[in-house]
Amino acid sequence: MDAQQTSRFTVTRNSQAVSADERAILLTDPGFGRLFTDHMVTIRYTEGQGWHSHAVGPREPFQLDPACAVLHYAQEIFEGMKAYRLDDGSIAMFRPEENARRFAASAERLAMPVLPEDMFLEACAEMVKIDADWIPSGEGSLYLRPFMFASEAFLGVRPSNEYIFCVIASPAGAYFKGGKKAVTLWVSEHYTRAARGGTGAAKCGGNYAASLVAQKEAIGHGCDQVVFLDAAENKWVEELGGMNVFFVMDDGSIITPPLSGTILPGITRNSILSLARAQGHEVREELYSFDQWRADSASGRLREAFACGTAAVVTAIGTVRSRGGDFTIGNGDGGLVTETIRAELTGIQRGTVADPAGWVRKL
Ligand code: PLP
Ligand code: COI
Repeated sequence: MDAQQTSRFTVTRNSQAVSADERAILLTDPGFGRLFTDHMVTIRYTEGQGWHSHAVGPREPFQLDPACAVLHYAQEIFEGMKAYRLDDGSIAMFRPEENARRFAASAERLAMPVLPEDMFLEACAEMVKIDADWIPSGEGSLYLRPFMFASEAFLGVRPSNEYIFCVIASPAGAYFKGGKKAVTLWVSEHYTRAARGGTGAAKCGGNYAASLVAQKEAIGHGCDQVVFLDAAENKWVEELGGMNVFFVMDDGSIITPPLSGTILPGITRNSILSLARAQGHEVREELYSFDQWRADSASGRLREAFACGTAAVVTAIGTVRSRGGDFTIGNGDGGLVTETIRAELTGIQRGTVADPAGWVRKL
């Protein structure tokens, strides 16, 4: 393998990369999160030295000491973002600087060093550039997973002195199997996701570890995703295991839970707030209780509800299940507002709809 220097990254091509024919077969049905490209990007951090060893190389396992801090105290953060192949053959990303900013905020919350935003963006661009052939055509995209973990071998409980930042890429189709039109949610009344002062607003692995038992409960009840209520009163709807949530009322107004510090400030959520306002909806970031959700679904005051996030895009919520029984929103199959928002957002991301806010970054 010949190493080459491009910008500050040393590039080593994978001599055992998947063949074009095999890749074409894999890309016909990528699913979500199960296929990976040929390369990865890494940057290391050492206290006193800063960021170093910028590299693009073959995707391969890490060798970690059994005392590696992340394995014991979960000092780890990540991001999720997508690269799209546009009709003219160019490649675009959606608001990647927002992911860079959120990654920095997550780092601060987990007492990790802050990767400069330009370095984060450069690493993502290098990842997309070297494995651009892995971007599926049509509805698919290349999901990027930048992450960083504590790599020092040390068992004392304090912030690590060494870190590895890495970007891997995974060709992706629909997050929900079969590209479901509407999903069923399980309301977690026993487990909560985040409390005030905790890490709910950070994108750290620990939040997801804590959510898995509730997600397992959801699957056990035949549901696609868990929805969490607030930890203080067990009353207010917060977010799903991996998505934010919106409610569409009969007067056309739209409600989403406020960023109270316990939910993830989704970039899709933020984009939808702008799009919905521009489409003429009154949009309110306000508390919405589970009891109200049930009552509004029964009375018809609630017309639609949807989940949103990078992986899930915009997905209608059909049925909500809890120990108290089920209820269905509208006809259980989404609705026009959800569909219109989804179409506009995906159109902007794919360059087929005007992008007045300048969210799309061509590589
Ligand atoms: N909430 C949680 C818990 C998530 O994991 C995600 C996905 O990243 C989101 C919300 C949506 O965030 P974004 O729209 O930035 O992908
Ligand atoms: C994303 O949407 O990027 C996430 O990280 C959520 C996860 C369910 C894949």
